[in-house]
Amino acid sequence: MCGIVAAATRREVSEILLEGLRRLEYRGYDSAGMALLDNESNLLLHKQLGKVAELEKAQAQQPHHGCTGIAHTRWATHGEPSAANAHPHVSGDRIALVHNGIIENHAALREELEGQGYEFSSGTDSEVIVHLLHKALADGADLMGAMRSVVNRLEGAYALAVIDREHPEQVVGARQGSPLVIGIGIGENFMASDQMALRQVTDRFIYLEEGDMVCITPAAISIFDEAGEPVRREKTRIAEAEESVELGDFDHYMLKEIYEQPRALAATFNATAGHEIADSAFGEGAADIFDRVEAVQIVACGTSFHSGMVARYWLEELAGIPCEVEVASEFRYRKRVQHPGTLLLTISQSGETADTLAALRDAGADDFVGSLVIANVDNSSLVRESDLVFLTRAGTEIGVASTKAFTTQLVALLMFTVALGRRNGMAAEKQQELVNALQKLPDFVQQTLELDADIKQLSEAFIPKHHSLFLGRGIHYPVAMEGALKLKEISYIHAEAYPAGELKHGPLALVDDDMPVVAVAPGDELLEKLKSNLEEVRSRGGELFVFADRQAGFISEPRIKVLPMPHCPEVAKPIVYTVALQLLSYHVAVQKGTDVDKPRNLAKSVTVE
Ligand code: G6P
Repeated sequence: MCGIVAAATRREVSEILLEGLRRLEYRGYDSAGMALLDNESNLLLHKQLGKVAELEKAQAQQPHHGCTGIAHTRWATHGEPSAANAHPHVSGDRIALVHNGIIENHAALREELEGQGYEFSSGTDSEVIVHLLHKALADGADLMGAMRSVVNRLEGAYALAVIDREHPEQVVGARQGSPLVIGIGIGENFMASDQMALRQVTDRFIYLEEGDMVCITPAAISIFDEAGEPVRREKTRIAEAEESVELGDFDHYMLKEIYEQPRALAATFNATAGHEIADSAFGEGAADIFDRVEAVQIVACGTSFHSGMVARYWLEELAGIPCEVEVASEFRYRKRVQHPGTLLLTISQSGETADTLAALRDAGADDFVGSLVIANVDNSSLVRESDLVFLTRAGTEIGVASTKAFTTQLVALLMFTVALGRRNGMAAEKQQELVNALQKLPDFVQQTLELDADIKQLSEAFIPKHHSLFLGRGIHYPVAMEGALKLKEISYIHAEAYPAGELKHGPLALVDDDMPVVAVAPGDELLEKLKSNLEEVRSRGGELFVFADRQAGFISEPRIKVLPMPHCPEVAKPIVYTVALQLLSYHVAVQKGTDVDKPRNLAKSVTVE
């Protein structure tokens, strides 16, 4: 993971690099660093444990100046979070390097370099690269030549940016398995792991391809492919006005993003649909591919995996299409047997999650009828590499715990269900009913947001607890999974989700008066069965928190707190109930005093395996 930003300019770059890092903090935030080359080509370094704000403080206390520089925000893989392990890493007081990814053969390389007299000052895998570069330069290579010889020795994934005192106008980069983008300026050029870091300075970008190497100076960009041949890569202008990523009146991005959902859901639907859902919403050529789809394989991670779990119920029940859902880190390493006519559907907010991307790439060799990605970030790797694309319109999601990205994914997935369903005999009235539900969805979510104060009150009971259970049945089981994930991510309360029917096969043993049990209990056909499951909890002294349809017949009584939810169509419920559970987790976390937007040990975009 981690974030890279680099600049080759003729102006002071420290503030540009720091602003880039602030925008990249979603990729990791346990330490940060910056290296600049000043007017006399001195290498100036700041490295700090903690968030980018700590680096800003160090720069304010001891300002470093320069026109060429690299910077990094880290999410630890090899070596604990510490100032020593923060990037940039330096060799011979000459070269500085930032690295995203993991070098798998670092131990062997380290041993070799130590044998040659190199001393390591960190416990990272990345430091081997900077010493290898130093060695290659000392042996007479130029900077690009050194980079080429070094990357040939690396096994694993990397995006790299390097500066060298002897080449003070250059920043050299390389990518393999981790994204790297060039930002094109006027008389200056930049590099970053995500274009978002550079939106402050440019709207023109070049996305590097796997195996590419690049040298930027203020005046030129030279790109070389895997074979070392000079190549031209397409330039992309990102035209939309930069959306606001300001907090406004909200205390946290997560809360802001929860409240943005009515708008985000409407934008996602309205961008491509009206009275009906056109195949073209999924990209050029979607109609031809969809005509051949007999089954769907969904692959995703984290919250996006949960949206896939919800979609399986829709695809099988409403569209009659067999559907499998699997977390990408399992899918990619398993020997699989696949239905003929299967479409590979990846779901990813960032479009950069390493396992999901690897699953798409590995699956290329299999016999899928095509690949579709549902993503929130245009030009992301998954978007660029899939046959078909549906872009959700959640807008930038800053909070590490995903909220609006999840619910907009569900909108896209329901639209996808309609597109496949009409090929499989879904009645016109049913299609219309689903379109109507999608159009009314923002209203139901708005009604749920109005329950915020009630949910906050309910949340107080969770503050002293260490464990919790989330129960749901049918399509609401994945909703319970998402609710449990949100609670554990941001409040650090252990939370597990179970299909309610599984309760008596194990988890019931855990139920006592210290174990709050949350039930997702919309008034669907499984309600009576769910009610019996809830009685099983109550009769063991458990305390129940029931999110129930206003009309479902639940009433609060001792040890059962009921939160009456808006009455809404069945297909709207997974989204509407998720919003209530997001608010529950948010309020628990705030009252526990955790860092809601940047929970410990996590990162928003997981670009390493
Ligand atoms: C990380 C984030 C989660 C996210 C998951 C998948 O773990 O913290 O919020 O759900 O990655 O990310 P993606 O961008 O592929 O949806």
